[in-house]
Amino acid sequence: MRSRPVVTIDGPSGAGKTTVSKRLAEAAGFVRIDTGAMYRAVALAARRAGVSWDDAVPLGGVARELDLSFRTVAGAPRVFLSGEDVSDTIRTPEISMGASAVSAHGPVRESLVAKQREMAREGGVVLEGRDTGTVVFPDAEVKFFLDAAAAVRARRRQLEISPSGAQSFEEVLRDVLRRDVRDSTREHSPLRVADGALYIDSTTMTVDEVVGEMLRRLPGVPR
Ligand code: DC
Repeated sequence: MRSRPVVTIDGPSGAGKTTVSKRLAEAAGFVRIDTGAMYRAVALAARRAGVSWDDAVPLGGVARELDLSFRTVAGAPRVFLSGEDVSDTIRTPEISMGASAVSAHGPVRESLVAKQREMAREGGVVLEGRDTGTVVFPDAEVKFFLDAAAAVRARRRQLEISPSGAQSFEEVLRDVLRRDVRDSTREHSPLRVADGALYIDSTTMTVDEVVGEMLRRLPGVPR
């Protein structure tokens, strides 16, 4: 039995999971686990090791050997790969596509899911990703599925990755739609709403409204 709950937030790219999970974890005093960053780190580590994003078995090895840690630096969550801060490197459009590609392979998913279960074993965590409520913790105490209209998700993504406008809205929307199709039609752990998850459409909601809605489901956490 866990003394504190496991909270899962799944949903497509740009639905607001990152912002919302940070705020929710802060408000609840929970640890946040960004599972997407783990798939991104595998894509980066594979690229550096010369392993193709299509090669399932060696990719599983890269995922197993991954030396990854999450640390807070000057109040901001950062991701470290073998001691190097890769928080920005893993957010480029190229690594985003690579993460989507490597995450379709069973051996990669098995390794990362095992790490995620170990990290969240004691509870008091917010996991965000695509399969955290369906596969990683089907018995999570509180589950959410966060969604938004594709155009709104693309706009948010564009502001996040390319504030200077280096990528046009059309390019970002095309990438978002491509990743949506790949993430929700793959054989292993496709993106879907978990049993018992509360579906939240954030298209016209503010971050405060979404976090408020979530906090109402978390017993014992002051709002
Ligand atoms: O949430 P994100 O954009 O950082 O995720 C990057 C990619 O990783 C995304 O295309 C899908 C994949 N992913 C996954 O398959 N399962 C997860 N739990 C999290 C992310």
